[in-house]
Amino acid sequence: MKIKNICCIGAGYVGGPTMSIIAQKNPKIKVHVVDMNANKIAAWNSENLENLPVYEPGLSKVVKEARGRNLFFSTDVNKHINEADMIFISVNTPTKTSGEGKGYAADLKFVEACAKQIAEVSKSNKIIVEKSTVPVRTSEKIKEILISNNSDVHFQILSNPEFLAEGTAMRDLEIPDRVLIGGDNSIEGKKAINSLVEIYASWVPKENILTTNLWSSELSKLTANAFLAQRISSINSLSELCEETGADIEDVSKAIGMDSRIGNSFLKTSVGFGGSCFQKDILNLVYIARSEGLEKVADYWEQILIINKHQRDRFSKKIINLIRKENLKPKVLLLGWAFKKNTNDTRESAAIYVANNLLNNNIEIDIYDPKVKESQVDFDLSNINADYDKSLVNFIEEPFLNVSECNIIAIMTEWDEFKDYDWEKIYKKTNKPTYIFDGRNILEIEKIKAIGFNYIGLGRK
Ligand code: NAD
Ligand code: UGA
Repeated sequence: MKIKNICCIGAGYVGGPTMSIIAQKNPKIKVHVVDMNANKIAAWNSENLENLPVYEPGLSKVVKEARGRNLFFSTDVNKHINEADMIFISVNTPTKTSGEGKGYAADLKFVEACAKQIAEVSKSNKIIVEKSTVPVRTSEKIKEILISNNSDVHFQILSNPEFLAEGTAMRDLEIPDRVLIGGDNSIEGKKAINSLVEIYASWVPKENILTTNLWSSELSKLTANAFLAQRISSINSLSELCEETGADIEDVSKAIGMDSRIGNSFLKTSVGFGGSCFQKDILNLVYIARSEGLEKVADYWEQILIINKHQRDRFSKKIINLIRKENLKPKVLLLGWAFKKNTNDTRESAAIYVANNLLNNNIEIDIYDPKVKESQVDFDLSNINADYDKSLVNFIEEPFLNVSECNIIAIMTEWDEFKDYDWEKIYKKTNKPTYIFDGRNILEIEKIKAIGFNYIGLGRK
């Protein structure tokens, strides 16, 4: 079946960029991205491309090309569900905060609400594509909801997890390592898989489009994130050992990464991984394993999160202990709030946790990030502690506004501009002695020390 009309429910970090590329590469297919959040849709439709709700290098160019031609953003969810022959569900699947599985299981209420709405308004056969990251066997649940709410229409379910990383989303979508499509083994199932393969084949070589059964596809997504996060926790755990033994984590990372069996990506030590997915997907994996009675498997994967929290906490403690030991002014300049560079996304950013630890010790903080707004910082801090002391927090738009009052600068995000600062000029303005806590190991130690800074990185002396 040749797809003519796509509807994507969820205009977030995945739905927006993914559908923009699908529309750009398939000009004959109409793509409607719908969301119940009217402000978000208005932002996607804004004339000024600087105001798109998602910041991703290269995104505005693609939106400019396709929007109004065959890419549309709308709040009219029912209309576009009804008109579509293929519907992507690309809504959020956060960790449950109440009920069975609280704190671990993925909350499928948004996915289930979509399935119910699709069933209620559909008058013609449709292919439903799970784009959201979901627990293995969710497609079965979706199918049940669809069938029990609408027996007149035929639905085929596909799993098509997304592997893009924020900050490099457009490149990841343009040249994906692979596209994964899971579906039923029936004739109808295979036809549905082919329809989606054809859409991706407009720009992805067919040998990079992998087709599997539904469950393998769903579980592969959780597993991929768990493996990536596992590498970060592994290197972060060793950064602490390096500090004790005098080895340098950057040397160790390079040395092991040059082994082609290990590979060099995701071996960069940090103050802890953030982002909306690693933690939630590992918690979900742990929950699934425990539900199956696999305690040892669950404990194994949970350890990744334990190390991640430990890394954030020990970084905070280093700062707090130094202030106490040296009797420094309790004020820290935090550079970076986003969970990684080249995104305005702050979900689960290590900066939030470190800031909270500092505030709990009555340490004042100045916060600067090139892409994050003050309202977002306030939202994040309120979220972690509703009663946080606002008088201790200054959001600044000029990074070194108050640097003359600071003894401590902490780099939280690896934004390129931080590397490029004129550190000599900054040093002159600071209140001496001045310490740099490099939570991303991005500065050149020798140069920074030669200027006069005390340098405290991770896993290096
Ligand atoms: P997001 O929060 O940025 O966007 C989700 C959107 O869905 C929101 O705008 C919300 O308003 C909308 N929504 C929720 N329920 C709705 C409904 N019933 N009707 C209409 N709109 C609805 O989330 P995201 O970061 O795009 O993630 C979406 C999914 O993709 C998650 O399962 C996530 O795990 C997965 N994923 C995310 C990334 C990433 O980098 N962010 C990468 C790969 C996979
Ligand atoms: C991650 C995966 O990389 C994507 O493949 C996946 O699609 C996505 O999760 C998802 O499912 O949401 P993302 O979280 O956007 O993408 O970004 P990453 O580049 O993976 O970085 C995650 C965190 O790990 C960031 O805080 C980053 O700074 C940190 N990180 C990354 C390290 O600390 N060290 C590294 O070597 C790499």
